[in-house]
Amino acid sequence: MTDTQGSIHDQWSSRFVFILAAIGSAVGLGNIWKFPYITGENGGGAFVLVYLICVALIGVPIMMAEILMGRRGRQNPINTMRTLVAAEGGHPVWRGLGWLGVVAGLLILSYYSVIAGWSMAYVFRAGAGLFTGADAKTISTLFEDLLQSPGSMLAWHSLFMIMTVAVVARGVRSGLERAVTLLMPALFALLVILVLYALYEGDFTRGSAFLFTPDFSKVFQHCEVEAAIKTCRFTGEPLLIALGHAFFTLSLGMGAIMVYGSYMPSNASIARATLAIVLADTLAALLAGLAIFPIVFANGLEPASGPGLVFQTLPIAFGSMPGGQVFGTLFFVLLVFAAWTSSISLIEPAVAWLVENRGMGRASAALVAGMLAWLLGIGSVLSFNLWSGESFQFLGKTWFGLVDYLAANILLPVGGLLIALFAGWVMSRASTLDELGMGDGLAYRTWRFLVRYISPWLVMIVFFNTIGLI
Ligand code: PFF
Ligand code: NA
Repeated sequence: MTDTQGSIHDQWSSRFVFILAAIGSAVGLGNIWKFPYITGENGGGAFVLVYLICVALIGVPIMMAEILMGRRGRQNPINTMRTLVAAEGGHPVWRGLGWLGVVAGLLILSYYSVIAGWSMAYVFRAGAGLFTGADAKTISTLFEDLLQSPGSMLAWHSLFMIMTVAVVARGVRSGLERAVTLLMPALFALLVILVLYALYEGDFTRGSAFLFTPDFSKVFQHCEVEAAIKTCRFTGEPLLIALGHAFFTLSLGMGAIMVYGSYMPSNASIARATLAIVLADTLAALLAGLAIFPIVFANGLEPASGPGLVFQTLPIAFGSMPGGQVFGTLFFVLLVFAAWTSSISLIEPAVAWLVENRGMGRASAALVAGMLAWLLGIGSVLSFNLWSGESFQFLGKTWFGLVDYLAANILLPVGGLLIALFAGWVMSRASTLDELGMGDGLAYRTWRFLVRYISPWLVMIVFFNTIGLI
């Protein structure tokens, strides 16, 4: 157990549990709720292609960097950065990276919990058979009803936050990560069933063409629907949204994966773990897209209809497929679990910091962080009803839109950029070579090249572009 020296955490009992926890963090609402709706708003195939390029050239090397930094620092992100800065001789400003993660995590959790709340509401709607035989119009109305009841949205949001706090308060080795072994494969199986349904009952040709045939005239086109009117504008935003989503979906750029890395056994392969996490996450997103868009086109729905997309499409499938009531209920239960395993990693950087630096117990730390995210989340609850009007908007965005944009499209890429620069330029070659433990061959050299020259530049170019085109 020499490799636990300096760590106050237990290690994962096996490398397998580390991968499960990381997959649990990665696969969540980002794949099933967010990926389809932002793909719909940003023109489809070209956006998906940019997103996949971001995952391969930025996501993979930065995930390896984040895991290795966590494993070398062995503490919460803030202290890990302090230790690494001391060991590698960087400027103290790098410590700010840990802070960025705490803030981004709480901001994301604040609205993540609201959407997880919708999913919980849908467990009961599916279970009650509300979708059985319902057409697209009825299903859209059901969704609108939910948005128009801030009280029940707030109740679900509160319940989900309590669930998150309860698990985190009990420590890292809770049963939830282990549940991933059973629940994730089940979620994938249900996604496959939905894709099969879409293949036979949806407009699969149009749906898959929308996802996979890039129309490059739409690279700079962002559309939204408001009050049944669709408006599209020419902007650099889609590139930034694709980049931000690569970070969001892989849980990168805010120290969540760094915290998990700090629990990873030192004999486990970081490259292999990264590959498993990225493949599982990408597969989940593409399956969700393949299930949703054929239903969108077969029912004359609007791809750019926004955050409600998954809740207005999949219930149509559950309403008309054999066994749909059972499948539908199960699907939303699994979605809630997937969101749950992600939310515990969103709150973890803040909790770890409160425990290690403020001397709090885990339970009080979880409570404090959870309260903060819950309060911020009320703004997102209201963004879909009482605060949806223009007088409550800033820069053309609601509170929800603004918090999401700031956290996912600004803070995560900035965090990722700093991680790449730190691992590539501040840490010595000897340290990263040692920590990655894959020898000084082509794989290591490719990683170091990407993390030094490619990922940071791509992130900066996208930023630059967006600012120029906004
Ligand atoms: N990766 C999660 C998802 O795709 O739903 C969201 C997320 C979790 C983002 C944890 C960031 C994070 F630290
Ligand atoms: Na994800």
